[in-house]
Amino acid sequence: MKPNFGPFSPAVEGILHGGDYNPDQWMKFYPETLEEDFRLMKLAGCNVMSVGIFAWAALEPEEGRYTFEWLDKVIDGLWQNGVYTILATPSGARPAWMAKKYPEVLRVDEMGVRALFGERHNHCLTSPVYRDRVKQMNTRLASRYRNHPGVILWHVSNEYSGECHCELCKAAFRDWLRERYHDSLDELNKAWWTAFWSHTFTSFEEINPPSRRGDSNLHGLNLDWRRFCSDQTIDFLKAEIAPLKEIAPQIPVTTNYMDFTQFPLDYYKMAKELDVVCWDNYPWWHNPAYGQDEEAARRAFIHDINRSFKGGKPFLLMESAPGPTNWQPVAKLLRPGMSALASMQAVAHGADTVQYFQWRKSLGSSEKFHAGVVDHYATERTRMFGEVAALGEDLKKLAGVIGTSADAKVAIIYDAQNHWALGDTKGPRAEHRDYFQTCVNHYKPFWDRGIAVDVIDSEAPVEGYDLVIAPMLYQVRKGVGEKLSRFVEGGGTLVTTYWSGIADDSDLCFTTGRPGPLRRVMGIWSEEIDALYDGETNPVLFAQNNLGMKGSFAADTLCDLVHLEGAEALATYQEDFYAGYPAVTVNRCGQGQAFYIACRTHDGMLDNFYQALAKQLKLPKALDTNLPKGVTASLRGDEEHAYCFLQNFEGKEHRVNLKNAQYTDALTGEPVSGTVVMRPYSYRILEPVEGE
Ligand code: GLA
Ligand code: ZN
Repeated sequence: MKPNFGPFSPAVEGILHGGDYNPDQWMKFYPETLEEDFRLMKLAGCNVMSVGIFAWAALEPEEGRYTFEWLDKVIDGLWQNGVYTILATPSGARPAWMAKKYPEVLRVDEMGVRALFGERHNHCLTSPVYRDRVKQMNTRLASRYRNHPGVILWHVSNEYSGECHCELCKAAFRDWLRERYHDSLDELNKAWWTAFWSHTFTSFEEINPPSRRGDSNLHGLNLDWRRFCSDQTIDFLKAEIAPLKEIAPQIPVTTNYMDFTQFPLDYYKMAKELDVVCWDNYPWWHNPAYGQDEEAARRAFIHDINRSFKGGKPFLLMESAPGPTNWQPVAKLLRPGMSALASMQAVAHGADTVQYFQWRKSLGSSEKFHAGVVDHYATERTRMFGEVAALGEDLKKLAGVIGTSADAKVAIIYDAQNHWALGDTKGPRAEHRDYFQTCVNHYKPFWDRGIAVDVIDSEAPVEGYDLVIAPMLYQVRKGVGEKLSRFVEGGGTLVTTYWSGIADDSDLCFTTGRPGPLRRVMGIWSEEIDALYDGETNPVLFAQNNLGMKGSFAADTLCDLVHLEGAEALATYQEDFYAGYPAVTVNRCGQGQAFYIACRTHDGMLDNFYQALAKQLKLPKALDTNLPKGVTASLRGDEEHAYCFLQNFEGKEHRVNLKNAQYTDALTGEPVSGTVVMRPYSYRILEPVEGE
């Protein structure tokens, strides 16, 4: 196992438990809630609160008049009651006076319309006025609280995202382009292929961000604009962090990431600016349209991305709903046990905190029906509160988990820039690109077996892994093909798929034959790709004894027509004019092997395929047993400890056979062996007994 990473703050001695806390909504009209909250926090086993996230109007009610007294009271009160503060900078939303006085802080949309004051997460990325107001605010926050023993982390802004089309942002974009293309329009015109539709630019001033008013089909422009918005947000983040670090260098910083089904920003690049990463997890449980195991695997995959950002360093679960959200179209209640299980799932994959949105439900506005630990009525007598409090008791017993991590031998590449470029392509299938879900489909067979996986971007190092999987790696940026080839030559196993190795950093197609820089290592040439209509399939048959896989699987959506150039075919298409063409290939290259899965297949194929690879590569499992469907096991450990988190995501009881292994239940201290009964939506945490 990896050595212990230590706590993200020296103050932290165990897993933190808490949530977003907005006393600024209550203090004027319901000041008595503050003391009541402190009482309830103790009952719920909560020891951390994120404070001030949208509190700007309460902190600076008019320009230059700062009113921090209430915040002093909150932070002091929390501290006296054994609760740490994660202190936010309030830039996620701004006061009305600021918008009125300095309209430039408001975003301009792609149609050129400047927003009125309202909503949140919508400031201009560039505005010097906004940056200055933020600097003034952050400087004061840092100066006032730098030595407060209760303040353990900066929560910078909230869920950064989006774009602004104002003149300031446009000018910044043009500067960004000048730098990227070394002041050379020739370089830019080449990279963007602008001769197409007579788009050749003769001055940087002619360039506008993509929009429905102008260009939305210039792929190079689209990609660079997304990169710019991401970079400009990172630049904003750095400007926010600067005064915090200058005045209070010992307090670590984070900013909360959103879901990863899309990449609003290049979170990989952003993570480099953070001391610890965190994210906001809002799963879609209990949906009859898919299995609980599928959603659990999606969530596990995202937790694993977060754990992988800093080489395995634990992350924080900054937000999660202890019950239904207000924004999912069906606000289904979480079945008993589900909230705690979802929280423990995060811990199982590397979270060192469990935090909710929100501590106390607001009385008005759009989030009044979003779950909170404390409801409008009956406070500690609700089911939700009871579950949170019970989880709090369990978390107290897991202090040894802090700083421990997983030791994955498998990495899946899920790349932000690839996501953007791939999402922009026209053809071969307009719908169902499904990059996120495709990566999860390659992940699920490992989840089912309790095999640890890291999730990385294409530029991350791959040394130390036995198996690297790069599904739909459409964009292969400079150096990536060479790196993956070296990985294989050195003994690694690489898997990639259809629609890989198509375009370069600038989204220009390779002229060296698909899969471009991966062609040599894969030992194939993909000449064409067939798109199948919904419902159409082509059977793919594995020849006997190839990887031990037998039988046929259905290919759908996209089927590559591949020629062998050193690779051998493991499976072939059975129908259509390309019957007999390779559908799955392997190329032995140097000490390693490279598999190409030429078509999208149903899960059964990937499950069989990765089962065979796991066996061949002897990939370590968290538990040496066959897990029932919907149950998984994940291991966290360091050189001294190991914790095996068994999780049952199904609404029915399951049994897990531990074979001859001996464990201690980390929560009860009792010995565990033989068969473990897993109640519906439940977890068990097992520590291997010494000598096992
Ligand atoms: C996001 C925000 C929170 C809250 C929740 C609701 O994650 O960061 O402020 O609005 O969504 O689910
Ligand atoms: Zn702007």
